[in-house]
Amino acid sequence: MSSDAALPAGFDRRNASYEQIRADFWPVMAPYADLEGAILPILHEAQRRYGWVSETTVRVIAEFLRTTPPSVYAVLTYYHELMTTPPADVHVLVCAGPACRVAGGPRLQAEVEESTGITVGDTRRDLAYSIGSSACLGICMHPPVAAINLAVRGNLRPGQVNRMLREALARVRQGEGGHG
Ligand code: FES
Repeated sequence: MSSDAALPAGFDRRNASYEQIRADFWPVMAPYADLEGAILPILHEAQRRYGWVSETTVRVIAEFLRTTPPSVYAVLTYYHELMTTPPADVHVLVCAGPACRVAGGPRLQAEVEESTGITVGDTRRDLAYSIGSSACLGICMHPPVAAINLAVRGNLRPGQVNRMLREALARVRQGEGGHG
């Protein structure tokens, strides 16, 4: 089974139990059985499927690989792209590339930080928002650029982003969209 397959109904990525993750993730790991060096691709599968790698997921992976949770953690914590905290409902990526930097990027970043009450690299305690930065979001001719839950938006004007963030959060919390 691919990590892109739909999650079972009612599956909560943040609070799934050991039994739920084991049932859901075991088929995703199955193609990696007895494969040398499987741990890293399996961790990436988990990151893609759940948006993070929880302590419970680590225990399931350790069982599958017939190893210990600490040895899974050793790999997990080495790679910065693998998250050990759950994703926020709305993840904002602010472009820090050269075209955006000279055309409103810093102002946009300040506005995102002010709207969310956190700074780049942080996740709000209520898991409403997290902010990251990107080296380039690919539409350099339309600066400044940000991505909200992977939807890339350019030509962002002062005052626009606060409303966009609130609308994105409302959509996610009403179950209309999010990290996919
Ligand atoms: S530099 Fe911002 S999108 Fe490329």
